Amino acid sequence: MDKEKVIQMLNQDLEGEHAAIIQYLLHAYAMGEGEMACEIEAIAREEMRHFDWLAETIVSLGGTPTIKRGDMRTGSKTVTDWMKDDVQQEQDGITMYEKHIKAIDDPKVKRLLQRIISDEKSHRDDFKHFVDKAQREGLTDLRGSQEDNVTKVIDWGIEHEYTVILQYLLQSYMTPKEEVREELQDQAINEMQHLGWLAEELVGGGGTPKIEHTAVDKSNKTADMLKVDIDIENKVAAEYDRAAREIEDAKLKKLFIRLRDHEVYHAEVFSDLLKEEG
Ligand SMILES: [Fe+2]
Ligand SMILES: [Fe+2]
Ligand SMILES: [Fe+2]
Repeated sequence: MDKEKVIQMLNQDLEGEHAAIIQYLLHAYAMGEGEMACEIEAIAREEMRHFDWLAETIVSLGGTPTIKRGDMRTGSKTVTDWMKDDVQQEQDGITMYEKHIKAIDDPKVKRLLQRIISDEKSHRDDFKHFVDKAQREGLTDLRGSQEDNVTKVIDWGIEHEYTVILQYLLQSYMTPKEEVREELQDQAINEMQHLGWLAEELVGGGGTPKIEHTAVDKSNKTADMLKVDIDIENKVAAEYDRAAREIEDAKLKKLFIRLRDHEVYHAEVFSDLLKEEG
């Protein structure tokens, strides 16, 4: 089988991981604080590791990792049904990986997919267990339909955070500069934290997170990537600063100040890297 075909399959797997991550996060956020939500977030983090391994394998084969997201199951109304949807999501993943393992000859890629499949089987069993647990404990959807100026700015923040997560990850795979790559991955993890804080705030305030992104930069040159990133960080820092000043709720105010400070830090880190780029 030629490389192009392998890259195509791995990108398909990447889309599936991407969908699983967001689907599970949406479910975890909508449950509020609790043991099960934590366990689901932990599963989403394992999917992020799969995403990372697949993307790096795609790059090592000479391909470009896609940031397209596969189909998500998010229409269900009860926690029990969400967990059934997550079982199905895992099952679909397993079926796809099995197909790809059969089709691909490269022993290294085969081994990676085998490794991932063993996680997915374990996740599938976890979600099956959560179906029973959700039923037993009568867990409910905590989301509401609140839409006001506060939920609007949180929504905007979530959209920003999701966009930069994808952007920094993609750039980290594409840059040949080791130091830049490490910083981008670090900041992407930090932006994931931001996404989580904002989504939990939104649900706590009676809103419903959507988790959609805007255009992701596709520069090939490291200096161009950093310029775009500095620009976006400065913009979001200003926006969070404005939100911190306007919002009256003390807890939210503190959150936006913390976010602003992180984004200012990101802009500075990227600016230093850009200087080194010359
Ligand atoms: Fe996965
Ligand atoms: Fe952020
Ligand atoms: Fe940032």
